Amino acid sequence: MAVTQAIPMTRHPYADGSYKKMLIDGQWIDAASGKRFETHNPATGELLATVAEGDGEDINRAVAAARRAFEGPWSKVKPYERQGLLLKLADLVEKNFEELSQLDTVDMGAPISRTRGNRLRVLGMLRYYAGQATALHGETIENSLPGDIFSYTLKEPVGVVGAIIPWNGPLAATVWKIGPAIATGCTVVLKPAEEAPLTSLRLAELCMEAGVPPGVVNVVPGYGETAGAALASHPDVDKVAFTGSHITGQSIIRASAGNLKRVSLELGGKSPDIVFADADLDAAVPGAAMAVFANSGQICSAGTRLFVEQKVYDEFVSRVAEFGKKLQVGNGLDPNTQIGPLVSQQQMDRVSDYLDIGQKEGARAVAGGGRLTEGALAKGYFVQPTVFANVQDNMRIAQEEIFGPVISAISFEDTDELVKRANATTFGLGSGVWTTNVSKAHQVAKALRAGSVWVNCYQTMDPAVPFGGYKMSGYGRESGKQHVEEYLNVKAVWIKTA
Ligand code: NAI
Ligand code: MG
Repeated sequence: MAVTQAIPMTRHPYADGSYKKMLIDGQWIDAASGKRFETHNPATGELLATVAEGDGEDINRAVAAARRAFEGPWSKVKPYERQGLLLKLADLVEKNFEELSQLDTVDMGAPISRTRGNRLRVLGMLRYYAGQATALHGETIENSLPGDIFSYTLKEPVGVVGAIIPWNGPLAATVWKIGPAIATGCTVVLKPAEEAPLTSLRLAELCMEAGVPPGVVNVVPGYGETAGAALASHPDVDKVAFTGSHITGQSIIRASAGNLKRVSLELGGKSPDIVFADADLDAAVPGAAMAVFANSGQICSAGTRLFVEQKVYDEFVSRVAEFGKKLQVGNGLDPNTQIGPLVSQQQMDRVSDYLDIGQKEGARAVAGGGRLTEGALAKGYFVQPTVFANVQDNMRIAQEEIFGPVISAISFEDTDELVKRANATTFGLGSGVWTTNVSKAHQVAKALRAGSVWVNCYQTMDPAVPFGGYKMSGYGRESGKQHVEEYLNVKAVWIKTA
């Protein structure tokens, strides 16, 4: 395995060790409590910034600002103007894209090749939602009532949205919540993850520069149990859009009960990635490996249960293991780095525990299996890309979300049986099928209970194509027209005309 030892480090202009305030009502302010927390680079341990630490009081202020904006001038802003704001924001994000990519990289560790590679998707999302802003419409609906009664629907913004995001892709996650809110005329209070709050704050600056009115986008950094919980339970929040773990998702639902707020949840997964013996193995090896190793496995839809047809199991798994061993692991700012650190000590401990659990359960690590601590890596949260062979369906490493660079390779023989086994999980987010047989691809794609099925590819995403979960991977869709609907209410209007 190639390891990046040291990289020339220039200070990021935003993550320069300074203090960052929160954005409420167009003003950059301190937390009501005056508290601050620190955010560090997970590759080096270096302090990047101290950040205003919001809690319930700040959430109250932000929600009040979002409510005033929603009921005030923002409600008069025309679709065309909201579109203009999103296009302006897209241009600003494009202009500052290198800085934003580096900010994601230093704050959460992802390789710069990956954060730069998000360019098309991030800009595409902003411009897609800009397009949606002028495409909102209800319907006229013919009814069967006696007499003359005209019926139609209006689509109206749902109101104040509480957005809670994780750390595994801060720029894209922030855009994914703010974009549809601006497009539909909602207002937002966004709580970034405590592990990586900086890109959301920088994006909020760009929102202000783009001319987004005060109170429409508010960003309150802070911890989940305080700021996040206050947002999820706030009686004046109309909807919560959450991305994160299923455990937190469950507490979001409970917290939402007070005012029965709308909830959309994009949670975790244990996605099956299925390789048939007739697949183009030269494509499937890197495809299946990166379906897990990308972003060090910190992707909700990672294809972590690798089902391989018995006939090619040994060959395929050893090729994936070789691929994993050759990956360049190191500081994300090095353009040659393919795998960065995990985001935090907590994530590293969690993943390390699963590495032990896998060994104890009788799986065999054919690549990786431990931490990486050589030289400069000792200061960061690095884990070896790991491939476990001989994994059985009921092992914990085959059932629980690890959120690290860990593949659990399982063999199968019979296709019908395979589909049952692939679906035997509490989750249903992503899934993959590698085959050259078109009929088989269609059959399996139909049978899998998951929100996305990737055939002969993995993890492709597009602003126009809906993404979301079945089962405990959550509900609601992001991207696509369905996403915009999540931010809209439907009102039926009846008019007696004669
Ligand atoms: P988490 O679900 O605790 O955190 C996600 C967001 O929710 C953060 O902004 C956090 O501050 C907030 N939060 C936490 N507790 C909250 C509460 N009670 N009320 C409101 N908001 C709350 O996830 P965490 O701790 O970062 O990671 C733990 C595990 O969760 C990971 O190992 C992984 O398995 C899974 N996960 C899945 C993600 C996904 O994309 N589906 C993203 C992050 C984590
Ligand atoms: Mg947490």
